Amino acid sequence: MQPQPTIHHCDVLIIGAGGAGLRAALAAAESDLAVTVISKVQPQRSHTMAAQGGINAALGTRGADDWRWHMYDTVRGADWLCDQDAAARLCEQAPRAVLELAEWGVPFTRDTLDQIYQRPYGGQTVEFGKAPAYRACAAEDRTGQAMMQILIKRARAAHITLMHEFFALDLIMENGACKGVLCVDMASGTLHAFYAQTTILATGGYGQVYSATTAANTCTGDGNAMVLRAGLALQDMEFVQFHPTGLYDSGILITEGARGEGGYLLNGEGERFMQRYAPSSMELASRDVIARAIVQELRAGRGAGKKADHVLLDLRHLPADVWRDKLPYVQTLARMIAGVDVRSACIPVVPTVHYSMGGIPTNVHSQVLDVQNDSRVVEGLMAIGEAASNSCHGANRLGCNSLLDLMVFGKDAGDLVKEHLRPGVKVSASSTTLSALMDAYAAPSISAASAHARRRLQDIMTHAAPIYRNAADMQRGMEDLRTMAGSLRMRMPAPSPWPIDWIASLETENLWLQALATLSSALMRTESRGAHAREDFPARMDDAWLCHSAAAADLSGKTTCTTTPVRLESGIASIASIAPQARVY
Ligand code: FUM
Repeated sequence: MQPQPTIHHCDVLIIGAGGAGLRAALAAAESDLAVTVISKVQPQRSHTMAAQGGINAALGTRGADDWRWHMYDTVRGADWLCDQDAAARLCEQAPRAVLELAEWGVPFTRDTLDQIYQRPYGGQTVEFGKAPAYRACAAEDRTGQAMMQILIKRARAAHITLMHEFFALDLIMENGACKGVLCVDMASGTLHAFYAQTTILATGGYGQVYSATTAANTCTGDGNAMVLRAGLALQDMEFVQFHPTGLYDSGILITEGARGEGGYLLNGEGERFMQRYAPSSMELASRDVIARAIVQELRAGRGAGKKADHVLLDLRHLPADVWRDKLPYVQTLARMIAGVDVRSACIPVVPTVHYSMGGIPTNVHSQVLDVQNDSRVVEGLMAIGEAASNSCHGANRLGCNSLLDLMVFGKDAGDLVKEHLRPGVKVSASSTTLSALMDAYAAPSISAASAHARRRLQDIMTHAAPIYRNAADMQRGMEDLRTMAGSLRMRMPAPSPWPIDWIASLETENLWLQALATLSSALMRTESRGAHAREDFPARMDDAWLCHSAAAADLSGKTTCTTTPVRLESGIASIASIAPQARVY
């Protein structure tokens, strides 16, 4: 049996120490608020470290640029599903966010004039689609790592309590408001309840729900699952982005920056096949377009290799200075993981799960919304980063808008609590609430985790909801998922160091809940839009489906799904909403 949890109080509790969590903490800590960040891994191991290509901002270092053009691209790339107030905020704040990082010491690659180097990226244009834009600010091809090193250094110097290797179990909810989080200290196996005036979920994505993903093993969407278990719905979970160039076999990310620097995609016949699908943007069309094009080539038997099951990224023609200054990490990854010398051979690649556009629904201020209940704000709960769906990315995110999202909405979230909370106001929940949460972990009869459960779940999702989906496969997937109900969660062990099996079983259950929400939304949306391509409903249908999905799922395997409106107004007087058009690349 576990004894009662150790109780902690703070003003602001942030779950997750990646880019979004740390940026929020830094903003909140510019006050007298007590800020605590807990994370299941050390900040240096957060998934933001893996971001490679860059962070977008209309700085205009290589020709005129304007944040409104960036916003137009973001809305178009999102296949018009994004909430335009969030897209406007993202893009308008981008230059400030990047210049701030540079001032803090992020070692951005520089051009000959010592300006921040900006590379072209998919779906980025100037003058509302007229010509390619140079907008992705890069620190070689290790931008996430460069940013994190500075954020971690600043966080350690600020008055922030950083507690790593704490795994969050559940939100402590009372009367519809969040009071904090119940956690387990992984090093001792003991329970801890953290109470806070505001809890900010910055828990990242759930890429591990598929078998081939660029996401780290830790990306199990724990915050999303806590929200589902609290009876709240997730938004737009059908929109799972496949990155066109995951390394064949391992799924490791080969940055889109490689195509930004001039790389080609070739099929097994040596042809630049993007000519057929996006003749003007070619390899810099948006990711959903390229991922589908690759699947079409493979289905037509034009894949590369003995099994004709991948395509090739050709970088052989890139000059030496690009390798040295812009893509050193790609060269290393290709050599070390795939044994490819990029100067003399092509890299085998396949589309690989990369990012979830869906997540915890929020307004533009990152306050969590109860979308099943008139979209009321859930008191005391905010969400940021990949865990959140403020819908600045709609149905498909543009490359390099993710690091930007972390910085813009992370800072905004921290600023909001800084403005509205008074230091030292104590929050707590009743002992009945806490006991009920603990009981749910003591009740299961399973005492050993199934080593195969995560793999089985990943197989189900890989077959049920790949790049092209259809109702029959998804229905079958849903039935398969439901057979796993009640079989995942291990009984909570007595306190002992590193209860790894138990935590692994909880992570698998978290993935399973999100898999249910994903299939539920994907089955409901009978159209194709952005990353959601239905073979049985190939057209985008704005009259019926220019709306968000909201899916709830519980531990019995029950799901419900409904729709909510898209916020089409930017909230900025000078910008009318960007009306839906066909997407042409
Ligand atoms: O390809 C990349 O470098 C990925 C960037 C992103 O997802 O933003």
